[in-house]
Parts: sequence; structure tokens; C-alpha cells
Amino acid sequence: MIRLFLLAISICTATQLYANIPYVEKLMSKMTIDEKIGQLNLMPAGNIVTGEKIESKTADDIASGRLGGIFNIKGREKIEKLQKLAVEKSRLGIPLIVGMDIIHGYETIFPIPLALSCSWNLEGIEKSARIAAEEASCVGIGWTFSPMVDICVDARWGRMAEGNGEDPYLGGLIGAAMVRGYQGNFSKPTEIMACMKHFALYGAVEGGRDYNTVDMSRVRMFNQYLPPYKACVEAGAGSVMSSFNLVDGQHATANRWLLTDVLRKQWNFNGFVVTDYGSIFEMQSHGFGPIDKNSVKALKAGTDMDMCSQGFINCLKTALEKGEVSLHEIDQACRRVLEAKYKLGLFDNPYKFCDARREKEVVYSAANRKVARDLAAESFVLLKNNQNLLPLKKQGTIALIGPLSQTRNNLTGTWSVAQNPERYETLEEGLKKALKGRANLLCTQGCNLMSDAEIQKGAEFGKTINRIDPAKGKAEALKIASQADVVICAMGECADFSGESSSRADLNLPDEQLSLLQALVETGKPVVLLNFSGRPTVLDWESKHVDAIMNVWFGGSEMAGAVCDILFGDKSPSGRLTVSLPRANGQQPLYYNHLNTGRPVSDSETQYRKYASNYIDVRNGALYPFGYGLSYTTFSYDNLRVSVHNDSVTATVKVTNTGACGSYEVVQLYIHDVYATIARPVCELKGFQRIYLKPGESRDVSIKIGRQELSYYNSDGDLIFEPGEFDIMIGKNSRDLMTKRIVLN
Ligand code: NOJ
Repeated sequence: MIRLFLLAISICTATQLYANIPYVEKLMSKMTIDEKIGQLNLMPAGNIVTGEKIESKTADDIASGRLGGIFNIKGREKIEKLQKLAVEKSRLGIPLIVGMDIIHGYETIFPIPLALSCSWNLEGIEKSARIAAEEASCVGIGWTFSPMVDICVDARWGRMAEGNGEDPYLGGLIGAAMVRGYQGNFSKPTEIMACMKHFALYGAVEGGRDYNTVDMSRVRMFNQYLPPYKACVEAGAGSVMSSFNLVDGQHATANRWLLTDVLRKQWNFNGFVVTDYGSIFEMQSHGFGPIDKNSVKALKAGTDMDMCSQGFINCLKTALEKGEVSLHEIDQACRRVLEAKYKLGLFDNPYKFCDARREKEVVYSAANRKVARDLAAESFVLLKNNQNLLPLKKQGTIALIGPLSQTRNNLTGTWSVAQNPERYETLEEGLKKALKGRANLLCTQGCNLMSDAEIQKGAEFGKTINRIDPAKGKAEALKIASQADVVICAMGECADFSGESSSRADLNLPDEQLSLLQALVETGKPVVLLNFSGRPTVLDWESKHVDAIMNVWFGGSEMAGAVCDILFGDKSPSGRLTVSLPRANGQQPLYYNHLNTGRPVSDSETQYRKYASNYIDVRNGALYPFGYGLSYTTFSYDNLRVSVHNDSVTATVKVTNTGACGSYEVVQLYIHDVYATIARPVCELKGFQRIYLKPGESRDVSIKIGRQELSYYNSDGDLIFEPGEFDIMIGKNSRDLMTKRIVLN
């Protein structure tokens, strides 16, 4: 009874914390219907656009109260000017909310989110969001379109770079950490509003082709795709962006079940919902009729703000006159937008995010760069290190070869809209600095990113990397390799191979690069591959022939220094994959936490079996599995103990650093629900600990999980615990695990 009462109180406080704010109510009582609808209109105001360019008559619209917010405009002074228009020229002086895609940093750029997730460093990730907010909040930005927490299991989708990999549990923890990092509790001028996106299921686009359709069962949604969004709501995300795709046959943007029943009623979300870029407009192509009808549907479903379609601003007043929407529905959306501005403190001080003094001190400061460098080093995943080729000694002659070796603006990867590449170091510059003349460095581009034949006409990728004559490039590369003691290849994808509108069907290293890499391996010199990527790529040939491979993703503005920290052993690599790296393109979708089949073939089976669930040409499992990564030392796992106390299970294992250097290790706990009413995955991450062990040091690591982690969602979104047998597994990745079976009543 007391518990129920407390629960009721906490729900009330959560939903009513900001509802019916007297200030907002009073303001709304003075607003005309046009002004209310104006608050629901969001348009880009600068040169950073992500769809077709729309002429926005920005200044007029702001002054006449036809815009509630603007986004993706860089420059404090420009933003200050537009805010001044809103405050001084519009009738009621309502300030604008100003957004930007600060996905992994403002000018201090952190590794792409997929890379950051591989650090498994939640504190560090929260800190990255905090720094992003500190930098953005002095140059006019009060709202970031982040975190992006779309689960994705299909590496063809370029936007995998923006998310946290394939695991819903880890994805939720990371999303929540980012929300906390951005928002704090809105008490400081450095705390900005998060926008969790893309709600929902955008990562499940068919074939991994961007903007494609989605179809999935509710059981899969609730268990595999929705948990990270829910975690962000629980962490207090102030806003949510709906996705471009269908959810259960309805467009997410006009999906009442999703935006109202699940998001608000089941999860108690009390912020505002914004569409993605032009979503209401695009509903027509999905087959939902004209924009006026879709604007009505979107509002009624629970959308509050229209990004770029101009459906709300152009159609809602007429819809109101025709009785298709009610004043209450328009008021509700307007109230939510104004409440967000209130939470941000914009009514107290509309210029609170424009702070010239702080801008000088904070943006790209040495302290911020240090955090970015450390996190970049933690995000790299060492995949192979034959005969401990790495770390390298700073001696002799080192050849640095490849299309990514001398580029400045490819290191930050996708969505670095505020980046300032002139301030960043290329890999070549970083290496030179680190070597301090103690070794001779030779460097050449060697090849193009890809040949013309490998890319569709019109897809202008990799423009930032010079095009060279491939034959001459190869000859030069082989020449410097012949003079070197070791060859470092900076190869893979360039920044615009991933991110929005950058899906790929072939995930292998492009032909020109592979041909050069093969030629370099044939020289017999030791070769290190630094694999740049915004997604899992296929490294099958490389894994057999290259001595050392490190996935460096896109490490951000401080990437060059971070690469050197690892290459020369100042730090031991500790990144662990949060995605499965495939053996072949055709394995997509590929993910470790899959359901079983009636004719299972396990990862360890190396032989094809007729009439079993396998391919005739490639093994089932990942080339490098989820959770995998090497360090410059090794860790042993012994003596797994599992104890059960009422509602919780504690697994303890002894982990020992058996090598010669100190390093972080990520101890991972997985479960398998052996029998259940709904089929459960073969393995699910439910806990982990990132620990540092000195050489020779041992530690008992205990990870505790509760009923919640042992439960699953049914198709209504209820969390169900079913007593019975569970496998509790602990190990260094999702493949190398020790198991104990327990029975829970
Ligand atoms: C479209 C993208 O899908 C979304 O992630 C982004 O926040 C908006 N454009 C705004 O730039």
C-alpha cells in the first residue's frame, strides 16, 4: 500500500514537474492562434542543412512570431542577432530555442558515437556530452539533437556511426549518460537540452538503406529496439525526435500509439516531440495523402514541433477552423515547446547561451582536448597483434601510407557540423610530433580512397582526399615501404562514407586500397593497418594477412595524438567492439544477441552442415565478435561463482592481468533465459565492469543483476519475469565465456 502510494507520488511529480507552469499559462493567455502555431515551427537558419535547401525568410518569420526555433547555424553573434529579433521585434518577445546537431562534440570533437561506445567508459561518455554542452552553450546553442540511440544490426546503414552499436542494454546506459551530461538539471548556463532520437526503430531500415521502410514485431521492438529510448526518457531527456520511418504501418511522426501511448502514457515522457527534417512533408511519399492531412495526423498523434515541413505553420489554422484539430491540441503542443524554453531559463535570460567571455575560454580548450584525446585512445579496438608487433618503438624508419594519412578533415567523421579542421592535426603531423625526430618518418597517400568504378555516379564521396594516379601512387608507396622497418597503413572509409545518406552495399576495403595493402604485405615488411570506419567493415583478407589491425573509427579532433599514444605504447588499447564485425557482406544483418533457430549451428562449428541453419560459403559467426578487443597485455578469467539472493543474482570471477603492462579490461556478464514463453536470445549483455589491473594483479570482480535484467517484455510492453533456468555467463567478449546454470523461483 505504502509502495503504491509512493509510486503514485513519483509519477505525479515526474509528469507535473513542469506542467501548468504559471508563467507559461499566463503567456499563452495572451497569444493569438497564429503565435501559438508559430511556436511549433522549426527551421534551419544557417548554412548547415541536411535536406534540400529551403528559403526560410528567417528574419521576417522570427519578427512576426512564425518561428519557435531555429537550428544548425554556427556563430554566437549571428545567433545573438536572431534572438534579438525574436525578443525585441516579435509581439510577445518569446525567445527562440536554438538547436544544433552536436552529436559528438562542438569544436572539440570526440570520436564518433559508435567509437565512443567501444570505450565502455560511461563516465567518460557523460563527460564528453558535458564538454559538448559547455562549448555549445556559450555560442548560442541551447538544444542538441543528440543522443541518437537507434539500435542497428545492419552495417550497411551509414548512420550506425551515430549510434552506440547493437546492444540495447549498453545503448540505454550510454544514452542516459549523454542525457545527464548535456542537461544536468538545467540549473547552470552550461546545461542544454538533449533530444533523444530517432524515435523509433530508424536503425532497422530494410537492407540498411537510409530512409527505407521498417517493419517489425512488437516483441522485437520492446526487447531489442525500444530500451535505449526508454532509458533516455528515464534519464529525463527534455525532447524527442521522431523518425523518418514507419512503425507498425504508420509513420512514426503521426503514430499515436508510439508518441502518446508508449512515450507519454507508458514511459511518462513530459517533454516535447519534434519531427525529423521534413518528415510531415515526406509522409505523402509513404502514401499518406497530402500535407494538410498529415499535419493534422501528426499533431493529434503527439508531435509538437514541425522541423522543416512547414505543415503546421501552413495548415493547422485552417484545420482548426474546419474542426479537424482542437484548440486544446494546439495549446498542448505550444505549451510543451514553451515549457522547454522555460526549463532552459530562456524567459529569464534569452541570451544566456551567448557568452563571449566563456567562448574564448572554453571552446577547444586544452582541458577539453585532453579529455577528447584520452577518450579517442580508449575507443580504438585492437583486433589483431601478431607477435606483439604493437606497440612500436620510436626508432628506425617508419612508413605511413594511405589515403587517410594526410587528411585533416576526415578524422572527425560524420556530424561534426561545428568542426574547425584547421586546428586539428593530420596523422602524419601527429606522428612527427610524437617521434620527436627519434625515428625517420616517410609518408605518402599511396592510392585513392576508391576507384571511379566502385562508386555510383553522383555520389561524390571522399572529395576531401586528393585524387592521384594509382600506378604512380603505388610505386611511391612501395618505394618508401622498402626503406622502412615497419609500415603503418591509414586506410578504410573517409568521413562521408558513413552518417546520413551514406549506406554502402559492399563493406570491404575498396579495391584500390586493398590492392595497395596487398602489395605492401607482399614486401614482407611488418604491416599495421589502422582501419578507419564508421561501421563494421569486412576485414576477412586483412585478418589473415596483415600483422596488426586496429579499428580507429573516426577518432575526432584529437585523433592523431591518440593514435600515437597507442601505437607507441604510452597507453594500452582497451576498446571493445559494440558491434559484430562480419566475415562477408552477405551476413548482414549480424548481431550477437540473436534468437536461436530450430537447426542451430554454433559459432565454433567450422564445417558446413546440410539442412542446418548455415551458409555454404561462410561461417555463421562474426569475424570479431561483440565485446572483443585486445590489449598490450592478457587477462585470465577463473573461478566463476554465482550466488542467488531473493531478487538478485551475483556473479563473481577472478580476473588476472597475466602480461607485462597495466591495462583496462571490460569484464562482461551475459545471460540466457533457457526456457521462456517468448523465444529469448542466445546471449544478452546485462552487466559489465571496466577495471584497471596492473601487471600480475588479480581481482575478484562481482557483477550483480536483478529481476529486471532477467525479465523480458511481452508485446504490450509489460516487463515479465518467468522463473526457471538461466545461464549466467562471464568473460572478455560475447564468444569467450564461462557459464553457470542457475534456477530461479
Ligand atoms: C536529419 C537527421 O535525420 C537528424 O538526425 C538531424 O538531427 C536533423 N536532420 C537535423 O539536422
